[in-house]
Amino acid sequence: MKHERQVALLKQTFAHIDANTTPLCDAPYWNPASRYTCPDHFQRELSTLFRGQVPLLAGFSPDLPAPGAWFTCDLPGAPIFLTRTADGSVKAFLNMCRHRGSRLVGFALDAQGHFVEHRGQSQHSFSCPYHAWTYDNSGTLIRHANDMGGFAQLQTRMDCGQFNLIEVPCLETGGMLLVRPQGKEPIDAQRDTFGMHSRMDEFGFGNFHFYQEVFWDFAANWKLLLETFMEGYHIAALHRNTLAPRFRCYPVIYECFGPHALFPLPRKSINDQRDLPESEWSVLKHASTIFSVSPHAVLNIPMDGHMELWDFQPLDVGRTRARVRFYIPEPIASEADAARWNKSWKVSTEVISGEDFTQQQNIHINLASGRLPGVVFGQNEPMLSHFHRELGKLTGVPDASLPESFF
Ligand code: FES
Ligand SMILES: [Fe+2]
Repeated sequence: MKHERQVALLKQTFAHIDANTTPLCDAPYWNPASRYTCPDHFQRELSTLFRGQVPLLAGFSPDLPAPGAWFTCDLPGAPIFLTRTADGSVKAFLNMCRHRGSRLVGFALDAQGHFVEHRGQSQHSFSCPYHAWTYDNSGTLIRHANDMGGFAQLQTRMDCGQFNLIEVPCLETGGMLLVRPQGKEPIDAQRDTFGMHSRMDEFGFGNFHFYQEVFWDFAANWKLLLETFMEGYHIAALHRNTLAPRFRCYPVIYECFGPHALFPLPRKSINDQRDLPESEWSVLKHASTIFSVSPHAVLNIPMDGHMELWDFQPLDVGRTRARVRFYIPEPIASEADAARWNKSWKVSTEVISGEDFTQQQNIHINLASGRLPGVVFGQNEPMLSHFHRELGKLTGVPDASLPESFF
């Protein structure tokens, strides 16, 4: 983040601290329980947000550190993999062999039916595990050996590329890797990120290094898991023994980019900088900076210099697979480095999965009971209303109005 932007943000922060205020949105927002529990609404979300024209954040440039690197991105209804080609560019394909549909990379399953391999290096062609049809990393079918001439009548069509991998649009910009699950229209950085790519560029995400990742399944609607990142209000109560001693609930100063948003959650130490010269002021050292990348991802940049990407793959209306990826500024060079980043990893993942996601699963159970008509976001939780209002624009479902009476 540019220094002048950090100074401006800190001036607003100090003014809010002095007045004991936080930015409020115009009105409370009513969100009916059905937005989280209705199977029809869920299907509408899948077709508009996850299988349609909306570009999604698949990962970051360090997920593909060199030509031949690949990783999977299992969006619902669109299993995709991305790879870096010999010329350094990035391509994204449906992870589907054109012979009989096998998954091409990340094929192995564990005993619970979960994929166990999500990334690889130095793979310049992709050979299908089923009958070994082989594609180069531009998606071209280059080999179908041992078929006894069984496809000879299709050879001309194969030569024309009709059995190449199905490519989907993708773009590397500001260190982000964006994919569009459907259609052929190229992704446009400015238009499709609403200008947020230039903010991301200021963080130099392309220079980070992938460290590790984990996948977890939770019994909650996917939006509930995202909501936990979008306000500081709950820190004092839910995180009273973990984050609250170090973090403030307020002020949360936010900036929106279309459906996306950027906001720092301040540490208590943020206020100690007032007496320093402005040239020494820093938001990044005294806040967890968060990018909400609609519809399904959140990037958290805590103070210790790493960044973590949380994305949420809806499995069902009440079941979600979370993927957490950790990226670090320098490669691990010593045991001390490894110990330090492992500690960071443990703190972040234990608090978020243990406290936040336990909470959100509780909420899902209550909403699914049908006894609660909806939930309400206060004006002090502006990112929540913004997130849901913008999803409503994409799904074609307008905001609901607060019922006159619940009884
Ligand atoms: S399904 Fe891929 S080679 Fe047969
Ligand atoms: Fe939290």
